Amino acid sequence: MVPPDNSKRVAVLASGNGSNLQALLDNVHNRDGVEIVRVISDKPGAFALQRAAASDVPTAVFPREDFEDRAARDAAIAEQLRDDDVALVVLAGYMAILSPQFIRDFEGRIVNVHPSLLPKFPGLDAIGQALRAGEAETGVTVHYVDEGVDTGPTIAQESLTIDPDEPLEALTERIHEIEHRLLPSVVARLAQEKVSP
Ligand code: GAR
Repeated sequence: MVPPDNSKRVAVLASGNGSNLQALLDNVHNRDGVEIVRVISDKPGAFALQRAAASDVPTAVFPREDFEDRAARDAAIAEQLRDDDVALVVLAGYMAILSPQFIRDFEGRIVNVHPSLLPKFPGLDAIGQALRAGEAETGVTVHYVDEGVDTGPTIAQESLTIDPDEPLEALTERIHEIEHRLLPSVVARLAQEKVSP
């Protein structure tokens, strides 16, 4: 018997505002058979959770302090994702580092969006880092997640030119516009394929 195809079942992990989650809800969810079946956060107050609820997508919250350590928290998240029969895990502003076991459990099936041209400027405040470094260009990377911080094989990258004297807010807005196009296009494509790096 052929096992049921779960390839279009997607989970999103988000820690904050969730504008990238919103782009996925608006452009990928319930299109061409793709379904965001769960939104998970490490932050009980994340606005992303409200966005999910407004689209009737089930949520779950795993605050770090509810678990003995990161490995225990991530094991609980992995169990939830297995219960949800998820094929693809999207990190959309998920600001916690995932445990090595979690990465192994979902190897080749976790993607992240990051606001720089990786490998340049990993970590926090990537947009500010690029601006302060006096870069002529920066951009957005969507990549498979490995055990490093914002490392792993690149899936898609788009660059933009930094305007002279461009304020951080303006550059951030232009970066977000790219993210909100690039991430949904990658997720829509991967959900139609067998996901692997
Ligand atoms: C996005 O810019 C995303 O690229 C970044 O956090 C922001 C979340 O915004 N992620 C990282 O920096 C990962 N290292 P959002 O909550 O509005 O989607």
